[in-house]
Amino acid sequence: MALIETVNLCQRYGGQYVLKDVNLKVDRGEVFGLIGPTGAGKTTLLRLIDLIDTPSSGKIYFDGVDTAASGKLRFELRRRMAFVLQKPVVFNASVYDNVACGLRWRRVGKRATRQKVEDMLEMVGLSAYKDRNARSLSGGEAQRVAIARAMVVEPEVLLLDEPTANLDPVSAATVEELIARIIERRAVTVVMTTHDMSQGQRLADRIGVLMDGSVLQTGAPREVFSFPRSRRVAEFVGVENIIDGVIVSNEDGLVSVDAGGKTIQAVSALAAGERVCACVRPEDVILAVSPPSSSARNMFAGEITRLVSAGSIARVEMDCGFPLSVLVTKRSVDELGLEKGKRVYASFKATAVHIITKGKAD
Ligand SMILES: Nc1ncnc2c1ncn2[C@@H]1O[C@H](COP(=O)(O)OP(=O)(O)O)[C@@H](O)[C@H]1O
Ligand SMILES: [Mg+2]
Repeated sequence: MALIETVNLCQRYGGQYVLKDVNLKVDRGEVFGLIGPTGAGKTTLLRLIDLIDTPSSGKIYFDGVDTAASGKLRFELRRRMAFVLQKPVVFNASVYDNVACGLRWRRVGKRATRQKVEDMLEMVGLSAYKDRNARSLSGGEAQRVAIARAMVVEPEVLLLDEPTANLDPVSAATVEELIARIIERRAVTVVMTTHDMSQGQRLADRIGVLMDGSVLQTGAPREVFSFPRSRRVAEFVGVENIIDGVIVSNEDGLVSVDAGGKTIQAVSALAAGERVCACVRPEDVILAVSPPSSSARNMFAGEITRLVSAGSIARVEMDCGFPLSVLVTKRSVDELGLEKGKRVYASFKATAVHIITKGKAD
């Protein structure tokens, strides 16, 4: 049984849907990452899961129990969860007192409190700061205090709302590393939001892509990253070449996609007539300066429109009837004499193309 389950969860503000029919299941011990752009409804969903707000309609089950049953039940369930807000929140008190407060509310004895707080401060690397006023800490340190305060009560569920979004890159890396260590212990179920796909990939067992209040896709990070189910998800997870077209034939699973006069071959079960997007990763394209004699199903000639080097890698943008972005090594740039305006040949395999059906929303 899922530890947390939402069923047709909706939240409306002033007639506007902020969340629409969200159906999610999070298993005990799992790390679930909610990814989506700003304004997608991530914080709204976390607040509902934490039972801070009540939904306009739909259900939330915690450990199989309908959380709408009673106020007393909601209060009890809230104590089994801990929420770390996007902006680090600390009280005007010592670091020690900030971490201890949840234990005091729960009337944990003095000695046990001391032990737990000290263990937690050690885990977050702030033992030396225990007597300092938490307000004097940097953003990253304050977030570590907030995480220690959340974890010290040994919650069953840890809710993290974009825990690194307000931090500088170095502090963000430290906080992410701390979260990774908490996850490693596998003692807590984690639901975390992020607008950073790569953070979701690094930390989560499973991710859900939330856009405009709807969950568009859930799955293992690799699966969502490699096989986005819609153009919007593809764009969000950073697929760079998304080419619009129509399937004109399907022969034993090898489809021909007409993309504005050019034909792209791909593997798909979809039938002729279907409007699709063909996704090609820039690292899967091979460039040559003369027509290659490779077995790749797709070969297009075109002109380089832009070339941007970044360290040992260069990004080549070319126009082959449709725009195509290609990643090559800096060495290839030199060896092939690549430059803006040069005519090149791009090739990629049919199996390197991921086909997406175009939904009504696209
Ligand atoms: N209490 C509220 N009243 C009115 N609108 C709200 C409220 N909370 C959130 N919203 C709106 O809901 C949408 C989603 O917000 P939010 O959940 O904060 O998104 P995210 O966390 O993904 O950036 C936004 O358009 C926001 O303005
Ligand atoms: Mg938010």
